[in-house]
Amino acid sequence: MKISSVKAQEILDSRGNPTIECVTTLEDGSQGWAAVPSGASTGKYEAVELRDGDEKRYDGLGVLKAVSNVNDILSKVVVGKNAEDQKELDKAMIEADGTENKSKLGANAILSISMSTAQAEAVSEKKPLYEYLAKFNSNFKGSFTMPIPEMNVMNGGKHGNWATDIQEYMLFPIGAPSLAEAVRMNAEVYMQIKKLLKSKKYSIAVGDEGGFAPSFISNEEPFQVMSQAVSSSGYVLGKDVCFGIDAASTEFFKDGKYVLNKEGKTVTSDELSAFLLSLSSKYPIISMEDVFAEDDWIAYKKFMETTQGKIQIVGDDLYVTNVKRLQKGIEEKSTNSILIKLNQIGTVSETIDAILLARKDNMTAIVSHRSGETEDTFIADFVVALGTGQIKTGAPSRSERTAKYNRLMRIERELGSKAVYANLTLEK
Ligand code: PGA
Ligand code: ZN
Repeated sequence: MKISSVKAQEILDSRGNPTIECVTTLEDGSQGWAAVPSGASTGKYEAVELRDGDEKRYDGLGVLKAVSNVNDILSKVVVGKNAEDQKELDKAMIEADGTENKSKLGANAILSISMSTAQAEAVSEKKPLYEYLAKFNSNFKGSFTMPIPEMNVMNGGKHGNWATDIQEYMLFPIGAPSLAEAVRMNAEVYMQIKKLLKSKKYSIAVGDEGGFAPSFISNEEPFQVMSQAVSSSGYVLGKDVCFGIDAASTEFFKDGKYVLNKEGKTVTSDELSAFLLSLSSKYPIISMEDVFAEDDWIAYKKFMETTQGKIQIVGDDLYVTNVKRLQKGIEEKSTNSILIKLNQIGTVSETIDAILLARKDNMTAIVSHRSGETEDTFIADFVVALGTGQIKTGAPSRSERTAKYNRLMRIERELGSKAVYANLTLEK
C-alpha cells in the first residue's frame, strides 16, 4: 500500500528529554505510529541524533529540526512510495540525506518514518507487527522464538550516577519454560533485591533503566546481592538464572586505560580482562557486553581467545549496529555477539542487515532498548519477528521498560503453541 502522508512531532522520552514520534498514513487509511529512543552512553560511531542546539529550549536538546525534516523534506521523498518495500523506502531516505552517518536530516527523523511505515503496512495487511516483520527473517519456518528477557536490575555508570563502574547487571532466566515464566522469575528476584537493599539500609531509588542504583562499595557487591536474591526467590543460581553485564567501558576509558573508581585503580585492558574473569569465576556470568572501549579491537580479540566461546562477548559501542564495523569484528574474531539498536544505524532495513550478517557468521544478536525510552513497543515485535532469541529492555519496573515485556507476554499468549522460548547456545 502506498504512503499518503508522514507527520512527526516532538514528545518526551523517559528522561524528560525531547524525542520524535511519527504517524505514517497509507492510501487505504491505515496508520502506524512510532517513537524514537535515545542513548546516554552512546558510541561515537553511531548515526547522528539530530538536536536543535537552541539553548533556549530544553537545554539545546529540542528536536524541532528533525521534526521539520520529516514534515517538510522527507515527506516529499516518501509519499507515494510502497510501504511494503521497506528496503526501497529506507534507501530513498538514506540517499536524500546523502551523508555516511545521517547527519544532514538526522537518524532520529529517518528512523521515525522507517518504523511507523512498517507499523502502518502491518495494519494495512491486518497482521500483528511481529507477523508482518517475519518476512525479513530468512530462518522463519512457522514457529516464533520468544526471547530471553535479559533484565538490567542494577544500574551503574552514566545511568545510575556511577553507583558502580559497570553500567548494567542483568538477570538471564535461561531455565524458564516460557517468556512469561522468565518475566515472573526476574520480577520475583527483583522484589527480593529490593528487600535485601532495604535490610542493608541502602537506597532503593532506581536508575534510567529501572535497576536499583545505591552507591555500592565495589563492582562485585551487586553480584552478592543478586546471588542472594536468586536463592531466596527459590531459584537455582547458574541453572535457572545466570548473570550478564554491560561494562560500557568506553565511558571510563581515559588516556589508554580503564579507570575503575570503585576499585580505586586504573587498569590496562589485560588487567581489566583479568578482573572481569575473576568475577566470572565466582558468579555465573554468561554474557559480557562492551568489555573494552569502542576502538580497543586488539583487547577484544585477545579476550575472545581467552574465553574460547564460553562467555557471550557482546559488541555494542564497538559495532553500533553497523555492518561495516560488524564485518571487521567478524574478520578479526572480536566478539561472538552483537547488540542491536535501531537508532544506532537509523533504518529498519539496515538493522535487519546487521542481524542477518551476524547470523550468517554464527554470532548471536541481542535486540536492545536505549536508556532514554518511550512507550513504543516496536522492539518487542521486532525481536520476535527476527527470532534472535534475546532482548534487553531494562528492569521489571518503569512503564517504558515493562511496556516491552508486557507486549512480549501478550504476543506469547496470542501465539500459543507457535511460540517457543529461546535457548542460549553460544557459538565459537
Ligand atoms: P544507552 O545505554 O542507551 O545509554 O547507550 C544502553 C547500552 O549501553 O547498552
Ligand atoms: Zn551497551
